[in-house]
Amino acid sequence: MSIATIFRYLKPESTPKEDLEGFMRGARNFIRDHIKPEDKVKIMVSGGVDSAVTAILFHLEIGDRLYVSHIDTGFMRQIRGKEETEIIAEKYSDFKNFNIINARNFFYEKVMGIPDAEQKRLGFRKAYENITDQQMLKSDCNVMTQGTILPDIIETDGGIKSQHNVHLRFDKVRKIIEPLAGLYKDEVRRVAEFLWSKYKTKVLENVSRRQPFPGPGLSVRTVGIITPEKLKIEKKANDIVEQIVDEFTERKYGTNLYINEKTGEQIPFQSFAATFDEKFIKGKEEIAPLLKDKTKENIRYKILNTNVTGVKDGKRVYSHPLCIECDIELDYDVLIKLGKDIPAVTSIPRVLYKVSSEVGPAEYVIAIRSIKSINAINATVNEIPIKTVKNIANKIVKRCSCKEVYWDVSPKPPATIEYE
Ligand code: XMP
Repeated sequence: MSIATIFRYLKPESTPKEDLEGFMRGARNFIRDHIKPEDKVKIMVSGGVDSAVTAILFHLEIGDRLYVSHIDTGFMRQIRGKEETEIIAEKYSDFKNFNIINARNFFYEKVMGIPDAEQKRLGFRKAYENITDQQMLKSDCNVMTQGTILPDIIETDGGIKSQHNVHLRFDKVRKIIEPLAGLYKDEVRRVAEFLWSKYKTKVLENVSRRQPFPGPGLSVRTVGIITPEKLKIEKKANDIVEQIVDEFTERKYGTNLYINEKTGEQIPFQSFAATFDEKFIKGKEEIAPLLKDKTKENIRYKILNTNVTGVKDGKRVYSHPLCIECDIELDYDVLIKLGKDIPAVTSIPRVLYKVSSEVGPAEYVIAIRSIKSINAINATVNEIPIKTVKNIANKIVKRCSCKEVYWDVSPKPPATIEYE
């Protein structure tokens, strides 16, 4: 196994905010400087904006010497009931060298049944490296490109998480080129919109407003041990959350992803569901006065007996989330204070507020998360009316038959956006 040399365009000569044409010129020069006429380049696309923009930049430069592949890991989403892989296949159908690899069983073997989050990520990463190597050989490529962006590098190097596309070890890849490595998400979106307006390539249609989706996909949202049943529930719940939050955002802002032009904040940055086994333990007694301090209402609480990620002193930590429940509806003033203040004085990284009124038979608990953020480094809860959140929760209980549903009101930090 060898480590490839990585060339990252970390210091663009103009940022997309200053000068889009300038950024494009710089990025294309960077690609040209690192590619020889005989090179064949592979990109593994995820369906997201980062890999789509990277693919277009390379295609502009080297045409059909670019080989595009998408892996159906089995952990991709459903979007309005349709498998995302099918949507990706349609979008990339104009590329001459494009293929879909059905590797579901391979990924399931490497990931299912493992309780530890890091081990799961490792299993996923190994499968990804393996398939990528096979694809490099198959299409006789010697160079690879990836849509890695700056927060991926900062957070992986800072120990907050191990992004599946940073520090990979490929056997067949000698050189990796990352033309977006100096950009934040909002900047990539700008480049995508610019490229779409100029070239109208199908892969870029609506892609700039697609929310980020983690490489290991729903495997990090099916928290703890993954089983086929738990994954199926997660897929359905995730689709329900995305659909209802999209509809709400469309009604409120006229688009499913509103970007505040002044601050760059994206609303929502991400919305999704996470599925846990229904295993609770009693919360420590010292939590009661902390809750009392924030509201006069009687709040019942328990701890979900599952490790989830948080950030403390710039590093990733694992701990159990606090689940609270109240007979009276709590408002955002109280919920936001709880989400911020409880983790400040305890080791709890997250506060989840019960929003389902019905109880289903399946032994799973689901958390709904919808956050606003500029660049994923910090995030706060997307304050959707609690009525709408409850509506999502009751739909989830009915369709996914899980036990109960919670609304995650934790900011990042001390929580992370995802749970693993
Ligand atoms: P966290 O959970 O660390 O997530 O606050 C920050 C952003 O990164 C996404 N994310 C990932 N993306 N591979 C990816 O490609 C990963 O392993 C991964 N983990 C988290 C997450 O969805 C959020 O946008």
